Amino acid sequence: MTTNTITLRETLLAGTEEIIGRSVSRNEKLFAICELLQDTVPSFDWVGFYFVADDTEDELVLGPFVGEATDHTRIPFGKGICGQVALSHETFVAQDVAREENYIACSIHVKSEIVVPIMIGDEFVAQLDIDSNTIDAFTDEHQEVLEEICDMLSDEF
Ligand code: SME
Repeated sequence: MTTNTITLRETLLAGTEEIIGRSVSRNEKLFAICELLQDTVPSFDWVGFYFVADDTEDELVLGPFVGEATDHTRIPFGKGICGQVALSHETFVAQDVAREENYIACSIHVKSEIVVPIMIGDEFVAQLDIDSNTIDAFTDEHQEVLEEICDMLSDEF
């Protein structure tokens, strides 16, 4: 007997590859990836990218995103989950944001968050940020696939 189960990983990686191959701007690709992630994983309520600011280089600037508009369009390195990842260059999974001391609330509905860095070699250039209105929303599989997607996106920067 054969099975045709397409895994979440396969769906997301094939979708990312297709989007990266499009002849559109980088930000259009990043926006399409936000939509792909939100459409594929219902618990991903807000999906967006932050870039290292061109002018100050110690702040993050909001890029393409899907979900509620946020006031946090610039975040200093070190501040919140996003700012901590800008310094650590490691994925941060906050399964319950209420337990985080260094956290910036974008919406009262958000219960968990993952932030994955995008690196060019040793250089931190951007990050993928996902908020969920569900506590404990992020699985090991999510983290692995999101890290693979961020690796694939490195070439776009
Ligand atoms: N919660 C983030 C701020 C960005 S918003 O989630 C869009 C943080 O603590 O860094």
